[in-house]
This record gives sequence, C-alpha cells and structure tokens, in this order.
Amino acid sequence: ALSDYRPHLIGGFADENVNELLYLDLEQEGAIAVIPLADQLKVEQNLPIAPTVLPSPTEVNYPDIPDGELLGYLHRATEIKEGGDWKAKDNTVKSTEIDQQLEDKYNFPFCDKVSTATNPIDWGELTKSGNAPKACLDTILKRRSTRAYSAANLTLEELKALLDFTYQPQHYIEQGLDGTPDYFDLSLIETFIAVSGVNDLEEGCYYYAPKAQELRQIRFKNFRKELHFLCLGQDLGRDARAVVFHTADLQKAVARLGDRAYRYLHMDAGHLGQRLNLAAIYLGLGVSGIGGFFDDQVNEVLGIPVDEAVVYITTLGRPRRRL
Ligand SMILES: Cc1cc2nc3c(=O)[nH]c(=O)nc-3n(C[C@H](O)[C@H](O)[C@H](O)COP(=O)(O)O)c2cc1C
Repeated sequence: ALSDYRPHLIGGFADENVNELLYLDLEQEGAIAVIPLADQLKVEQNLPIAPTVLPSPTEVNYPDIPDGELLGYLHRATEIKEGGDWKAKDNTVKSTEIDQQLEDKYNFPFCDKVSTATNPIDWGELTKSGNAPKACLDTILKRRSTRAYSAANLTLEELKALLDFTYQPQHYIEQGLDGTPDYFDLSLIETFIAVSGVNDLEEGCYYYAPKAQELRQIRFKNFRKELHFLCLGQDLGRDARAVVFHTADLQKAVARLGDRAYRYLHMDAGHLGQRLNLAAIYLGLGVSGIGGFFDDQVNEVLGIPVDEAVVYITTLGRPRRRL
C-alpha cells in the first residue's frame, strides 16, 4: 500500500546530475529537492532519521548582488557540481550541532502572554491499513488555497488548534501521525502572528513561542491596513483574521551552514505552512500562503526583530462563501 512508503526530503544532491537526468533546460529550470519514497516494510530501505547533508564548504563571503539577482545567485552558488569537491559524510550536520535550544528564542520582559496549550485536533479513525487517519488523507486531497475571506472572526480555540497541529507534532503520535517529521533545522525558523480578528485575543503582533506554547505580544494595534500594503495590496492580507510570518535569521543560518541553508529554510517554512493549511481546511477555515510581500517593511511595521528575515507568510480566516 502507498501508505507503507515514507517520503524523505533530500536537499543535498548533485544538482547537475539530477538536472541532466530530468532533461531540464538549465537556462529555465533546476531541481530544488529530491524525495525518495522508501518502503517502510523493507528494513534495507529504511532511511536513517538524520538531518540533511551539508554538501559544500561553508561560504560566507558574497559579492555585492543587486536585489533582483540574489535568488539566482544563491541558487547557483549552492549548486553541487558533478565531480565537485564535496564529501557528504564529512559534512553531515550532526544533530548535536543543531541548536537544541531549551528556551524559545525571544522572550520580552513584561509582555502579555497567552497560553496556546489545547487539546490536539481529533483526526478520527485510521485507514484500514492503520497507517494514518483517513480524515487527514482526505484533507490532503481536498486542500485548496482560499481565495477570499469573509468578515467573520476566528476564535482563539481555532487558532490554538492550528498552532498545536503545526508546531507540536509530538501530540499527534497516538493518532497515527508522524511525531518527528523531517525538517532541516527548525531552530532557525521563528513564527510571528499579526492578529486582527480573533475572538478573545487582543489585536496586535505576537511572537509564537513553541516550547512554552504561548503567544507573546510585541505590538498592540490592528494592522489590517498595513497588512494589505505589506502583502503587495493583496486583499487576502487585509481580510485575513490572522497572518502568520515564518522568519529566519539568515546570517546565523549562513554562518553555520553555508549559503545552501537558504534553500532548506524555505522548504522548512513551506512544510510548516502546509501543516497550517491542512489543519485549517480540516477545521473548515480559510487559508492561503503568500509569497508576495515587502520583506523589510514587514519587520519595521510589525516589530519583528531585524535579524529575522520573513521567508513565508500564511493568511488565515473564514472563507467567503460564493452567493
Ligand atoms: C509559496 C506560496 C506562495 C503563495 N503566494 C501567494 C500570493 O502571494 N498570493 C496569492 O493569492 N496566493 C498565493 N499562493 C497560493 C497559490 O496561488 C495557490 O497555492 C496555487 O494557486 C495552487 O492552488 P491550491 O493551493 O488551491 O492548490 C501561494 C502559495 C504558495 C505555496
């Protein structure tokens, strides 16, 4: 059965070989991830649960690169060439090197704190083969990005449920879900949430502390107008009741892991975004990712520390039903 296969995200691979294998037009395209499916029932196929391989030397000196060319540069600079000078084994990031912070990164003295501890979402019955909740598989098939939000608020319980599913996978082991999903390095990703319509939660901007399971308020106002602008004038940003910002300390990531970290951080943020998507759709809420935003202004307006570069935004609200 398909559900016996465990996908394993691989970011460290020889780009040139993969691109060639797929007959990609190198001017136009390049592989960014490889996902082998391993049969969990065959021991020899079981992939070790280990952090990703760091394939190239850590590069921290960059030339000056104009804004629009940065992405292409980073992608090329982190390419692994056939026969190139890399040794996967020696460069494997050891889990001990990954920050196993005991505390959440940000704590603000005297800030208001709201606990997000809650009962995990109940995903119901497992499939016949018993590998995953049926409702979760159905939700994956059903998931769509919401295109417009209504004026109705979310409830605090709903927001807590979304956060619990996304950041506390260990709460879902008993429901047949993976308690330790593959990530590159979640200690480099932080979460901020601009709240403009959640019942029983003050409007403003919050840091989400996943270890403490609480929201820590850093700004006190309704940012709806600003969010509209920050999301390049997209109505989704204005009408969402909560907007989640995934950020990363790029300097720290690059210093530790080289510029290839840039690729992996986006995958991790995308993975978190996808968990928000699944939980929201299952709960009948609206959700959409946003990749179009003004990077620097987001920090300025919402009070997100300057070291944190926004890598991905997820908007949440109630879907506007068609009349
Ligand atoms: C990384 C990412 C960035 C996105 N950025 C935007 C965006 O800026 N504006 C928008 O309206 N939708 C955005 N979307 C939603 C996509 O338009 C939507 O996912 C795509 O049309 C596929 O539809 P589906 O999600 O319903 O399968 C984004 C989705 C992803 C995954």
